[in-house]
Amino acid sequence: MQQDYNNAELIKKVRTEKNFSFAKNTTYGLGGRARIAYYPQTENEVAAVFDYLKDNGEKFVILGAGSNVLASDKFFDGAVISTKSFKKILIKDNFLYCTSGVSVSELLNFCIKNCLSGLEYLAGIPASVGGLCLMNGGTFDKRICENVLNLRVYDGKMHDFTNKNCNFGNKHSIMRDISCIILGAELAVEYSVNVEEKINYYLKARRSQPKGRSCGCVFKNTQSNISAGKIIDSAGLKGLTIGSARVSEKHANFIISNGNCAADVFKLIKKVKREVYERMRIDLEEEVVYIGEFNDFDS
Ligand code: EPU
Repeated sequence: MQQDYNNAELIKKVRTEKNFSFAKNTTYGLGGRARIAYYPQTENEVAAVFDYLKDNGEKFVILGAGSNVLASDKFFDGAVISTKSFKKILIKDNFLYCTSGVSVSELLNFCIKNCLSGLEYLAGIPASVGGLCLMNGGTFDKRICENVLNLRVYDGKMHDFTNKNCNFGNKHSIMRDISCIILGAELAVEYSVNVEEKINYYLKARRSQPKGRSCGCVFKNTQSNISAGKIIDSAGLKGLTIGSARVSEKHANFIISNGNCAADVFKLIKKVKREVYERMRIDLEEEVVYIGEFNDFDS
């Protein structure tokens, strides 16, 4: 436990919300409720909430923009640490520091205003900086690991992880393997005048992606040179539907929800996995992060 601040006093200051709705706080618009959510605003508040939940043996999840998750329809008898109110961006010499709750669009607006280039490829990704770093998100040709100089991480103690120590991989980082919370990132940028133009280029490219409620790509691209979308498409699974969930006709790695049932999406993900394995002997690996309980025997 961190000792250099008064935990109990800090916790009292943190805004909370009872009966937190996952449906209202994820891009899927799906999921049940959690007992309570905490909205820390400062580094010390984040650390205090993290310590408090750990010390009390509480079950908890950390939620940024909720763009890469599928939350269960069932009640989550635990807490959510939302980074939504934890936002700060500072310019240093040749990098900027931003806290994990900053969204990609806020980050890019800041870059436009301050003529900072190097992050344009993130345009249109509906993520928070914390989620992006955790998952090493980005595009097919550039990932956030190429910009990260250091990450500030709390696991009961404050750490500054160098890029190397983050162990970035395919939609993976070491932060996924340890119990911790990402506080902020030092991101390499450079001065440039045509930042907005480059952002618009990436936004245009994203317009070809499916509309509708989704978590972006469901599966990782694990087969070298073949995208998971292409594999699912080749297996003839576009349009496959279970209840309110459907494999997009536009891009087969997107599963769109038209209803109010996370279990339908879960069942369809598992069905796609099974079908692809049966038809092509390829093991797809989920990129989407599940929150709460799902019944495997339902799938
Ligand atoms: N393709 C098909 N059928 C499909 C989907 C794709 O034939 O249903 C083909 C495309 O025509 C193209 C190739 O597969 O020739 C690659 O498709 P795309 O350019 O859409 O890229 P991707 O590999 O499917 C990756 C990221 C996306 C990111 C795009 C563009 C992953 C898992 N996916 O998709 O990221 O938007 O590149 O940069 O890394 C996400 O992370 O949630 C995500 C959507």
